[in-house]
Amino acid sequence: FTSGNHIKSLEGKTVLITAGPTYEALDPVRFIGNHSSGKMGFSLAEEASKRGARVILISGPSAQTTEDKNIELHKVTSAREMLNKVFEFYDHIDIGIASAAVADYAPKEVAKEKIKKNDENLTLELVKNPDILKTMGEKKTHQFLVGFALETQNEEENAKGKLEKKNLDMIVLNSLRDEGAGFKNDTNKIKILTQTGKKEFDLKSKDKVAIDILDFVEAQLLK
Ligand code: CTP
Ligand code: CA
Repeated sequence: FTSGNHIKSLEGKTVLITAGPTYEALDPVRFIGNHSSGKMGFSLAEEASKRGARVILISGPSAQTTEDKNIELHKVTSAREMLNKVFEFYDHIDIGIASAAVADYAPKEVAKEKIKKNDENLTLELVKNPDILKTMGEKKTHQFLVGFALETQNEEENAKGKLEKKNLDMIVLNSLRDEGAGFKNDTNKIKILTQTGKKEFDLKSKDKVAIDILDFVEAQLLK
């Protein structure tokens, strides 16, 4: 009985996971997006499924696939679509994990036709996207909420701030300092923060990181 081999330890629980980037349309052929691979979210979904959970995976555009028939995969494109999809399920989930790299801003207007390169300069007006996880936090009744944070400065302080501001139960801090960590890679180095404590983990594959995260969630749920 080793870590990660829990026998159906999440049986009876519903876990919702957001994953991947979001794409915010500029015109019919262009978007603003980011390099998130979606790997962390898919690894979490597969690990939660192994543990017997009902898994709802809401993913932005990503090359990731899963063979796991137990994972309910919902593909979305924009932050707004991701928000709407999350709230189709939100009341009925036990655990919500936000691993998506949601675009913070979207073009104010989506051009109906492809934008032509008529002018020397082009200024885009962007507007803030809805904060999906913060909205989940505001509407929390019984859900256990897990956020992610990617910081380049004052890492712990900023992550703790997000934990509080978004009404989370725990936050996973991704380290950018170490080679091989971060959101394009197959490996990750994390630190988990709660209201009362923190735990640091070694650099490892995202599949193993998913085991650490879900072990931590389960330990918190048993408290
Ligand atoms: N998140 C979200 N919806 C958004 C932005 C972020 O659900 N519109 C979630 C992410 O999935 C992550 C957490 O919020 O779990 C923190 O995301 P992050 O980008 O680190 O923080 P922001 O709140 O967007 O603040 P900033 O980018 O300014 O640091
Ligand atoms: Ca952000």
